[in-house]
Amino acid sequence: MPKKVLITQPIDESGMDVLRAAKISVDVWPGPEPIDRSTLLERVSDCEGMISMLTDPLDAEVMDAGPLRVIAQHAVGINNIDLDAARQRGIQVGHTPGVLTDATADLTMALLLGVARRTVEGDALVRSGQWKGWSPTLLRGLELRGATLGIVGMGRIGTAVAARASAFGMRVIHHNRSGGVPFDRLIQESDVVSLHCPLTAETRHLIDASVLRSMKSRAILINTARGPVVDEEALVAALEQHEIAGAGLDVFECEPDVHPGLVASPHALLLPHLGSATVQTRRRMGVMVAEDLLRGLRSEPLNNGVKL
Ligand code: DGY
Repeated sequence: MPKKVLITQPIDESGMDVLRAAKISVDVWPGPEPIDRSTLLERVSDCEGMISMLTDPLDAEVMDAGPLRVIAQHAVGINNIDLDAARQRGIQVGHTPGVLTDATADLTMALLLGVARRTVEGDALVRSGQWKGWSPTLLRGLELRGATLGIVGMGRIGTAVAARASAFGMRVIHHNRSGGVPFDRLIQESDVVSLHCPLTAETRHLIDASVLRSMKSRAILINTARGPVVDEEALVAALEQHEIAGAGLDVFECEPDVHPGLVASPHALLLPHLGSATVQTRRRMGVMVAEDLLRGLRSEPLNNGVKL
């Protein structure tokens, strides 16, 4: 009997080629919406392996629903997986670090530039037909050269964003669990705060009403990490009350639902979780998870295993 695996969204064909060559039996949930809980429990029941997405809550119940031995997560973030439950059951967990660093750092800069130069308002003005012509006072934004970028979470992606921002002439400071400037100082000094930390119990709502109040009134918040790192309700209030100048968000607290106050804000640039969404990166991610899935099925250590 060929080993069976579940893939909870279609992945790049290069990854599928790896699985086809290994002649394993593959069940692909067609998406585009995440697989629902009862279907997941049913379809995992005869699977030894799984390629999961960040939208799949993988807890003990899912892990007990089938003979799972390996979960290869098609993302670097793994906050949706109960790692203790996986360890207790001897299930290997892999993810995709490294390959999406540049794509996510590029998208961070797209958001940063987009908000700093008020492109949402500019685009709306042109489309509205209300633009009256060039004016010295029209939609002046933040110049990046000389502005301070505060990076929260100086891992691979934070470091790649720092390199890009330095090329734009920004002064870069950072805060990490292990070093950098104190968090309060970063918040008070930065013209742009960019979030690159994982979502954990400590970082949930790290950016809350009081942090937003301590930011400069001309400051911009960028989030390409995980939505719940920011208290979205508090962010909406801060934007409405002009406590900060704008926000560039690729991630949201309750994806795919977005707070109506953000949707209504001309100072928010909103993207549908596109950080790693380049053709090249998604190809690399697909191959990476397929290869680790096969390693797990063979009971070999994963190339990109998470320490459990
Ligand atoms: C990740 O990998 O964690 C991103 O959020 C999606 O690619």
